[in-house]
Amino acid sequence: AAAPTAAAAVLTFKPIPPNQLDTLVVPNGYDSAVVIRWGDAVVPGAPAFDVRKQSWQAQLKQFGYNNDFLAVLPLGRDRALLVSNHEYTNEELMFPGFTTHDALTVDQVKIAMAAHGLSVVEIERVGDTGRWTPVGRGPRRYNRRITMLDTPFTVDGPAAGSPLLRTKADPAGRTVIGTLNNCSGGVTPWGTVLSGEENFNQYFVGGDEAPAAIRPALARYGIDTTKRYPSGSRKWERADARFDLKVNGNEAHRFGWIVEIDPYTPGSTPRKHTALGRFKHEGATIALAKDGRAVAYMGDDERFDYLYKFVSDKRMDHGHSEKARRHNLTLLESGTLYVAKFEYTSAAEIDGSGKLPSDGAFNGRGRWIPLVRGDRSLVPGMTVEEVLVFTRLAADKMGATKMDRPEDVEVNPKTGKVYAALTNNTSRAPGAKAAADEVNPRNNNKHGHVLELTEDGGDNGAESFSWDLLLVCGDPNDPNTYFAGYDKSKVSPISCPDNVTFDGAGNLWIATDGNQLDSNDGLFAVPLEGAERGHVKQFLTVPVGAETCGPFIVGDGRSVFVNVQHPGEVDGATMDNPASTWPDGDFAKPAVVVSWRLDGRPIGS
Ligand code: FEO
Ligand code: CA
Ligand code: CA
Ligand code: CA
Repeated sequence: AAAPTAAAAVLTFKPIPPNQLDTLVVPNGYDSAVVIRWGDAVVPGAPAFDVRKQSWQAQLKQFGYNNDFLAVLPLGRDRALLVSNHEYTNEELMFPGFTTHDALTVDQVKIAMAAHGLSVVEIERVGDTGRWTPVGRGPRRYNRRITMLDTPFTVDGPAAGSPLLRTKADPAGRTVIGTLNNCSGGVTPWGTVLSGEENFNQYFVGGDEAPAAIRPALARYGIDTTKRYPSGSRKWERADARFDLKVNGNEAHRFGWIVEIDPYTPGSTPRKHTALGRFKHEGATIALAKDGRAVAYMGDDERFDYLYKFVSDKRMDHGHSEKARRHNLTLLESGTLYVAKFEYTSAAEIDGSGKLPSDGAFNGRGRWIPLVRGDRSLVPGMTVEEVLVFTRLAADKMGATKMDRPEDVEVNPKTGKVYAALTNNTSRAPGAKAAADEVNPRNNNKHGHVLELTEDGGDNGAESFSWDLLLVCGDPNDPNTYFAGYDKSKVSPISCPDNVTFDGAGNLWIATDGNQLDSNDGLFAVPLEGAERGHVKQFLTVPVGAETCGPFIVGDGRSVFVNVQHPGEVDGATMDNPASTWPDGDFAKPAVVVSWRLDGRPIGS
């Protein structure tokens, strides 16, 4: 009999070559179009975007800046909700005449704050193609902006109300205005969206005058506690004093969480889940354990930080009743938070170059070390509130494995195997925080690698696993790269994996951020099973200075959405002296793009 699974996994498109073009490139037989860009209307009644007449009031109704994670949630065959993160802002590319952050007006700071957060946008299919566009007319009841400036979040889980989260403005420690630096995320099986608060540290000043008791923890989270203004400071405290840690030491503890948004319920209050720990959350993606508990996989994107997972106490209710929905919305409020510790099979052979061990694989076993179960701390000397608010310190104590910047972590829906992008780390060295080990096998890891993790018993709820590296990225002509043993003369070069997703056949799609191979960033696809495993092919490149985010392949497989983040972000470039003018030829705008196949068949196949 034929092997339909293997056949379906074959990727037929002709890979595109590396390039440095200021445009979006897709393979022959595909087309692409911008869906929505910075400044486009989201909330009905939003004013038309005028780059010379920006206001925070307008930005609160318009598509935000630096779209990163995206998801497309169905409303029917030809209608859907596009949910996008807005991670950060590039003021030098947003404001004509930009000179320095110090010179920004308070109104400009507030525009930047309003451009952070998320957008929910109703979109519709164009004709019978794989192209989608915002619904332009009629009621768009789901459209909303969630912003840093004006959206309240409820804090839940064991650390809600903790003294560590209380401030003058919120003495109960249970309500936070806004979400910061939302990087990647995931769609839950119960129809909500998760989003990770990542580099929140860069928005705070006054770390040198924060209360002495919390200064070491602030420093572990990247806040400079030696001076008032760290380099690159955004000066947001001029618009809102809570970003001054001298005034509000605990305010920083109110960011760095996984947030959950319910886009199907307009007006719903988004939540910050303390049970999932606090770190520089890249994102969170959900799988179900064999017994139905929700499992969230999460990376802490920092050199030498950790890979985590959370397993809920309760099981998901697969019913469609309102009661089931309400139950599922509580799943991320209580559970067990774990951090990963890796063990190795060929540790003695690892010399830091990336050379493959003699057994032909980087591989081994590993354990999930529990930090918190329910409302109980398992970390000596730390309360449950301390473990959840200072999760990095707890993981340090428990001897977790220091990783090369864990970004997206996602479960293959076909196999249950877990894939983690480890984007890069050039600081590993003997005598440094850590030297190369088998799961992070290069000291000078400019190009990153991709980890494959197989939970014991095929159960995402397991407490132990085996692992191997799928890819050790870079130029395939470099002998110390690895493409799962595939013939390297046939693969596309790939560098700095960041966001991952899967197509309907179970192929892994990888978006890159910070390509170190003299090409723009892009999107790649690679089969994971059978003879084609490791055959990396480049599908798309983004314009100059941009990072490739998203990506998201819709349920019918006919469309792949990609977030083009920070086009034109090049050293020294400004709006007046641009490196990119994508997508409209005037000035660079972050935008959501959709690519589809002209013959209407599934992407990649
Ligand atoms: Fe925002 Fe880890 O990338
Ligand atoms: Ca990003
Ligand atoms: Ca990222
Ligand atoms: Ca990144």
